[in-house]
Amino acid sequence: MSFLEEIQRRRTFGIISHPDAGKTTLTEKLLLFGGAIQEAGAVKNNKVKKGATSDFMEIERQRGISVATSVLAFIYKDKKINILDTPGHKDFAEDTFRTLTAVDSVIVVIDVAKGVEEQTEKLVEVCRMRSIPIIVFINKLDREGKDAFDLLDEIEQKLGLRVIPLSFPIGMGYDFKGIYNIWEKKLNLFSGDNKQTVSEGVEFDDISNPELDKIIGEAAASTLREELELVHEVYPKFDQGEYLKGELQPVFFGSALNNFGVKELLDCFIEIAPSPQPKMAEERLVDSKEEALTGFVFKIHANMDPKHRDRLAFIKIVSGIFKRNAPYLHVRNKKKMKFSSPNAFFAERKEIVDESFPGDIVGLHDTGSFKIGDTLTEGEILNFKGIPSFSPEHFRYVNNSDPLKSKQLYKGLDQLMDEGVAQLFTLELNGRKIIGTVGALQYEVIQYRLEHEYGAKCSYENLPMHKVCWVEPDDPKNEEFSEFKRVKQRYLAKDKQDQLVFLADSAFTIQMTQQKYPTVKLHFTSEF
Ligand code: G4P
Repeated sequence: MSFLEEIQRRRTFGIISHPDAGKTTLTEKLLLFGGAIQEAGAVKNNKVKKGATSDFMEIERQRGISVATSVLAFIYKDKKINILDTPGHKDFAEDTFRTLTAVDSVIVVIDVAKGVEEQTEKLVEVCRMRSIPIIVFINKLDREGKDAFDLLDEIEQKLGLRVIPLSFPIGMGYDFKGIYNIWEKKLNLFSGDNKQTVSEGVEFDDISNPELDKIIGEAAASTLREELELVHEVYPKFDQGEYLKGELQPVFFGSALNNFGVKELLDCFIEIAPSPQPKMAEERLVDSKEEALTGFVFKIHANMDPKHRDRLAFIKIVSGIFKRNAPYLHVRNKKKMKFSSPNAFFAERKEIVDESFPGDIVGLHDTGSFKIGDTLTEGEILNFKGIPSFSPEHFRYVNNSDPLKSKQLYKGLDQLMDEGVAQLFTLELNGRKIIGTVGALQYEVIQYRLEHEYGAKCSYENLPMHKVCWVEPDDPKNEEFSEFKRVKQRYLAKDKQDQLVFLADSAFTIQMTQQKYPTVKLHFTSEF
């Protein structure tokens, strides 16, 4: 197969949802279709169960499992599918944001009864900001839920999407009979009462055909005709170009648990979803078809076993072929590196491979040279953009509890921050260190890992802050900026990249500060 064909057959995407909407179940059904696993239940539920805050074994187990399921790859109808796993737990949301920098499209799973939930809103917003193509899967149709049209309205309003249903449910919950596949003009029905068996889709391109009444009953047939008529009138026509630009989002209905509507989703997905896309670097746009290798680190996974403190850096290949033992430039370190055992990922295992193509993820063993966002090339100086830090929501001072181990503490903190576990800020005034996280769970993870992996002990002191804002003065030399720095001195800190941040105790403070110093811009992400 040629290099171009290899690129064109790849689909690298992420599945995002609010916890419990059915992401794991859907992933598993997709793997079953790909023949990558043989039975349901093979993919472990990659989530920290509720209330597990102090159960470190649970965290460790979760981390262990997520290495295995970080990338799930399989072949389906000759397409190479790479699913990038995103943690469901909200305390790991930042991890998910970063993974979204490595996907070419996403599938959003929504629970038919719960509709659009908080976590979905946040994640879809990130996708929308980056114009990532989105397909929506409305799940759990075997249960009673919201009316399909109400739900489509809710998705448009709360998620700011422009939807087009490509399948439509026939009944719901107890009366759920199946779906009409608008995309392929096929009728897919459950056979049997247990909703476990699915009939092969029957071609049905003319739904006015009286056969429909015989198959699903007069009442259901007439409702379906009315509903499809409405779909036709109200929603735009499907246009692949608009979908690829992130301007139109196809919607599918189904039940992952019953494996219903999943094949329709997958068949449409492999046809319309994008193959590896060009990516913007600070220097220029890099096209996936370029022959020189480029890639970037979007995730670092630490080994929890203190005896093997190696880490796995996950690289998304943007262009070229990644070859085992070839020398590549680590752009930030300005050093050439060779990798003798790059891992490629399959359904549930990883394997050393000689070559990987754009869209693929390789896992590189690392002893501390990589940071999130690092770029590898064949020599060109390139820095891929789009891996910003987001403002944390929890802040604590970190204190060293064992003065003899301060070296270990700082090394540990440094490495954990490189992995993206949390963010470290240093106060301008007195050099005190502040750890900012998205969820409270991280503090326990950090404390535990510092102690077990680095032999250092720390304690925390609460810091009631609302957000950090990255500071961008219109002119660093102007009077207003000097005044801002003088008045706000106590609330200014530097992040790990030495960028200036302002710690705000409330949304009101941010608003007032912005009004008072209009030439000093405050941003909620580190890239602006
Ligand atoms: P998540 O990864 O998005 O967090 O969700 P997950 O797939 O773990 O699904 C959450 C729960 O919803 C699971 O039940 C799962 O069996 C159920 N579920 C998923 N898809 C469907 C569906 O189409 N219909 C129905 N009725 N249920 C569905 P659980 O009891 O929490 O877990 P388990 O004990 O079954 O693993």
